[in-house]
Amino acid sequence: MNKLALFQLNDQEFDKLRQLIHSKAGISMSDAKRSLVAGRLRKRLVSLNLSSYNEYISYLKKDEHANTGEMQRFIDLLTTNETWFFREERHFDFLKKYLKDQPVSQSINIWSAASSSGEEAYSIAMTLAETMGLSSPWQILGTDISSEILDKAKKGLYMKSRMKGLPLPLKKKYMLNGVRTYEDYLAIAPELKKKTQFKAFNLLNSPLPGIKFDFIFCRNVLIYFNQEDKQKVIHRLVGCLKTGGYFFPGHSESLHGLYDKLKTIEPSVYQKTID
Ligand SMILES: C[S@@+](CC[C@H](N)C(=O)[O-])C[C@H]1O[C@@H](n2cnc3c(N)ncnc32)[C@H](O)[C@@H]1O
Repeated sequence: MNKLALFQLNDQEFDKLRQLIHSKAGISMSDAKRSLVAGRLRKRLVSLNLSSYNEYISYLKKDEHANTGEMQRFIDLLTTNETWFFREERHFDFLKKYLKDQPVSQSINIWSAASSSGEEAYSIAMTLAETMGLSSPWQILGTDISSEILDKAKKGLYMKSRMKGLPLPLKKKYMLNGVRTYEDYLAIAPELKKKTQFKAFNLLNSPLPGIKFDFIFCRNVLIYFNQEDKQKVIHRLVGCLKTGGYFFPGHSESLHGLYDKLKTIEPSVYQKTID
């Protein structure tokens, strides 16, 4: 019998695992997520030669003393990293309109606060490069809790088959063709990469960056949090926005009633009105 089919995730194990992912990443897993959790961890159990999810939980707990890196691996396995270039493009249209009225000498800082593999941060960078030029003083910060996905973002290498959303003229201008082993990939042009940096950051508890941002994108991650954690994250991030700066959650993530310093400008576009 296939070894993968032997593992059953019982109620107790599922509860322990969901408490763990909630305490580490703020991600709330409903009962409906049981097969997702079981499926994503199953191969890991096999490669560690463990015979139950309970053994895996004990192994994970060792990480707290022995620093085996397994907790990070667990977070990497349970986060959902789906993203693509210019996803929810209304935000990029809004940004473009705003930038058109700014002097090119204006320094602009933008944070992609759950950047996944970097497509969002590089889409922002392309928007700035097109409107302000590459030599203007703008910077993009991309952060995420998953170390595996951040490595991808830092590399800036994307499968040619995953260019959904990226307009052809931007692709031609800001992406380079991979060669030899990378012939199925496109690479972000170095001049765009230079303006974009990626760092590990847990929205719930990492020390906040020491600068204020003009725009914060925090999209398609708040849906994984409960109301209390959502409020905490918004509070922390909005504290890093300049007064007058804009906050973009995902199109299906309403902030209604969560924070009184934000004014709704249009659906899923919020502005910080007071400090
Ligand atoms: C679905 S992706 C969204 C990517 C991008 N913002 C977009 O809208 O296309 C959600 C990302 O949130 C990250 N994430 C989940 N919990 C997090 C936390 N507590 N702190 C930082 N990032 C987190 C995941 O690793 C994942 O890459």
